[in-house]
Amino acid sequence: MKKIIFLTILLLFSSSGDYIFLPPPYLPEIVLEDAISRRVSIREFSEKEISMENISSLLWATSKISSIDGRDAVNIYVIMKEGVYKYIPLNHSLKIFRKGDFRWVGDYDSAYIKIGLTWNKSRGKNENFSAFQMGSIGQNIYFISNSLGLGTVTTAGKAYELYYIGLPIDEKPLIIMPVGYPLKPYNFSYSPYNTSLPFPERGRKSLVDAMTEENIEAFLYGGLNEREISQLLWASYGYSYFFDASQGWRHRTVPSSHATYPLEIFFANSSGFFHYMPANHSLETIIEGDVRSEVEPSWARNADLIFVYLNESKAGSSWAWFYEAGAIWQNLLLEATSLNLSANAIHNFMIGEKLNFEGLKPLLIIGAGKKYVEDFEKPVVKIIYPEKGFIYAFGKKLMPSKNTVIIGKIEAKIELEEDALLLVEYRIDGKILGEQYIEPLSFNLPHSLFKKSYFEVFAYDYSRNNASDGMEYVKIL
Ligand SMILES: Cc1cc2nc3c(=O)[nH]c(=O)nc-3n(C[C@H](O)[C@H](O)[C@H](O)COP(=O)(O)O)c2cc1C
Repeated sequence: MKKIIFLTILLLFSSSGDYIFLPPPYLPEIVLEDAISRRVSIREFSEKEISMENISSLLWATSKISSIDGRDAVNIYVIMKEGVYKYIPLNHSLKIFRKGDFRWVGDYDSAYIKIGLTWNKSRGKNENFSAFQMGSIGQNIYFISNSLGLGTVTTAGKAYELYYIGLPIDEKPLIIMPVGYPLKPYNFSYSPYNTSLPFPERGRKSLVDAMTEENIEAFLYGGLNEREISQLLWASYGYSYFFDASQGWRHRTVPSSHATYPLEIFFANSSGFFHYMPANHSLETIIEGDVRSEVEPSWARNADLIFVYLNESKAGSSWAWFYEAGAIWQNLLLEATSLNLSANAIHNFMIGEKLNFEGLKPLLIIGAGKKYVEDFEKPVVKIIYPEKGFIYAFGKKLMPSKNTVIIGKIEAKIELEEDALLLVEYRIDGKILGEQYIEPLSFNLPHSLFKKSYFEVFAYDYSRNNASDGMEYVKIL
């Protein structure tokens, strides 16, 4: 019996052909807020090997995130001594991508491994959204690395060198995270500072429990108390409660390209609209009274809202700030979960005059609160034009036919019933060719070169329910 178990384990967790099946992750015991407070960038590493169990933990954590548009448009490459591997989350394995030692790709070559993150353009059309997803993944890599005694740093500077591993043409490298044991040991000491909001506290939930639970809900009501508001804002963009004696400063809860920190966090609830000041962890009142009616979609207005703006006097537009916003979202989601609250990240929002400020560009709204209804209802989606089983010529419906035949340009129209629409995706023969986030919904059908094509419309809501409608067509011109 023992022999059989041993052989099964060997088969499950060892390499088989092109795959390395990863051992179960080692999940560190650390309280969430301690993990957030220990997030630092490490750039110098010792030669010590990282065990496969720890590599497994890092990769396990990369899946414990929620992208902004419900899709996964990020590929993960692990660059090790023996070769470059692609991480396959589905069976938690590494698939060989290229043999040979490519650890010279990117910066900080003393790292034992490097994790490369690429934007897969076939799975998502928006570079900012993929950077956002990388920001969330990056946080989890920081947290797990640090709690395992490893260190890492987000780097964008030489991420283009990932092209040398021979990336497919539909992938663009954005980030490399070198990982290794830090050359200098960590040296954190608890060091409170003066704040107006209640000082950030260690909660009851572990990092791993918060990562595993992740309470995402669309329909929330706010009414958070001062402690909850304080914890959420601190996690989003505050300063660590530890002083880092090895680097001689106090880190923020998220990294920032060139330590720019160009984002401004605002908070809105029933009593007003406030600016979060990270340095002394306080709120400054900007507008008295409830301004959440300025926010579209209207279903979001019952939650307490956290706004992320880019301060254009500090930095110009770049996907790097969406990376930072993704890191903020990940921290906030974990902290909300730890407080037994829920959250959601809203990308397809609009805000009225009152909340538009010169020099501040809104990037993201996050809703936080307690859930009030569970949303199991799927969207209802229907292609209403062209009608199936007709011949169309230059936009005119001519006559019924066995096949739907289209001559000339035609714009498909889609009807939708959904209160909290996340995304509509247009696919032709399985390939994503377009997407929309708000109604009215329409899509220019491409021609099918005299053969039948399959047009599909997928609609996703904020609770991750989805539905689709599809039709076959032949388009001649
Ligand atoms: C999008 C992004 C790109 C970054 N690129 C680099 C880089 O190319 N090289 C580097 O050494 N650090 C890079 N950093 C790390 C920042 O320099 C670091 O987060 C900042 O100095 C704050 O230090 P801390 O993370 O230790 O708190 C990047 C961070 C972000 C978020």
